[in-house]
Amino acid sequence: MHTRNFDALIIGGGIIGLVTAWRAAQRGVRTALADPEPGGGAARVAAGMLAAVTELQYGEQTLLELNSASAARYPDFVAELTDLTGLDTGYRPCGTLTVALDADDRAHLRDLHAFQTSLGLRTQWLSGRECRRLEPLLAPGVRGGLRVDGDHQVDPRRLAGALLRAAELAGVVFLRSAVARVTVTAGRATGALLADGREIAAASTVLAAGSESGRIAGVPEDVAPPVRPVKGQILRLRIPPTHAPFLSRTVRAVVRGSHVYLVPRENGELVLGATSEEFGWDTTVTAGGVYELLRDAHELVPGITELPLTEMLAGLRPGSPDNAPLLGPTALDGLLLATGHHRNGVLLTPVTGDVMAEVLTSGELPDYARPFAASRFDRPAAAARLEQTV
Ligand code: GLY
Repeated sequence: MHTRNFDALIIGGGIIGLVTAWRAAQRGVRTALADPEPGGGAARVAAGMLAAVTELQYGEQTLLELNSASAARYPDFVAELTDLTGLDTGYRPCGTLTVALDADDRAHLRDLHAFQTSLGLRTQWLSGRECRRLEPLLAPGVRGGLRVDGDHQVDPRRLAGALLRAAELAGVVFLRSAVARVTVTAGRATGALLADGREIAAASTVLAAGSESGRIAGVPEDVAPPVRPVKGQILRLRIPPTHAPFLSRTVRAVVRGSHVYLVPRENGELVLGATSEEFGWDTTVTAGGVYELLRDAHELVPGITELPLTEMLAGLRPGSPDNAPLLGPTALDGLLLATGHHRNGVLLTPVTGDVMAEVLTSGELPDYARPFAASRFDRPAAAARLEQTV
């Protein structure tokens, strides 16, 4: 069969694969993207919070820098996408309020506030009464909260649609097939054999298949990314006009150790998430998952029980060993990664596109992305492979 040649082959058509393909093609890289259903993946499930400050974890200051850089790029990023495609991404600069429902939560949020402030982040402590003044439907027992006016939201499904169109307009070739295996010839990745039998040759092959990225056939074990699936179950409800405005911003809490968040969209959708479960490649929606989400959300905003429930879904976050993405070249020549974004895939979409386009054109990660180099988890055989090449 005839082999098609490209500069770059992107494996995976979720938002990370799409943004990589789009940005690369914009820079003149002849790019193909392989996915049976581009525009799908975890973004179909994700709530789309852009929560660089709210989701900050202790010890993740380096990741915070990348998250904040990506959040800062969002307004121009979505404006560019909409200008090019005519499609709206549902970007909503609405802010976020995280509340405490009991004394333990309050102490924890107080500590988090001190930590955020020590890093110079813009965040404001509110009393329970101030929280309810902002969001009148909050439970009467709310004990205080953190207001973060810079943490916004986007609609990941619309974002995926706009990215897909932008990539088409930029000349990305969509290969609507799964990948049977990555091809490795004479010690370098050379493209892929598709499940439909087509052979694709590429100077660079990028694994951008989310949690699947670590188990694509043909990739040598020592360079396969150490990503694992972290299941998130999520619900969608509808806010009838009679109940609007329901919430004016994203509202969230930690209830009995689990994160619960309510993300109100301008189109009347209310996204309620999310569980975090490590059970392999299972995307079953369970009675227990739905029960826990509704129970916790009801403690936060009792009025949710009046809303129509329109969708229940589960998706898989690509978890990495340090919760940060793996970007750029691997120890195998010609093989690159754009995966491992864990809880921050939507947030990190703009910066990932820029980083990967830079790598695909110059061969180098930009300085600000070096802490996220794919090579940081190199295993012994991969390290030996690298030594042979220098
Ligand atoms: N960033 C939200 C989540 O992963 O559930």
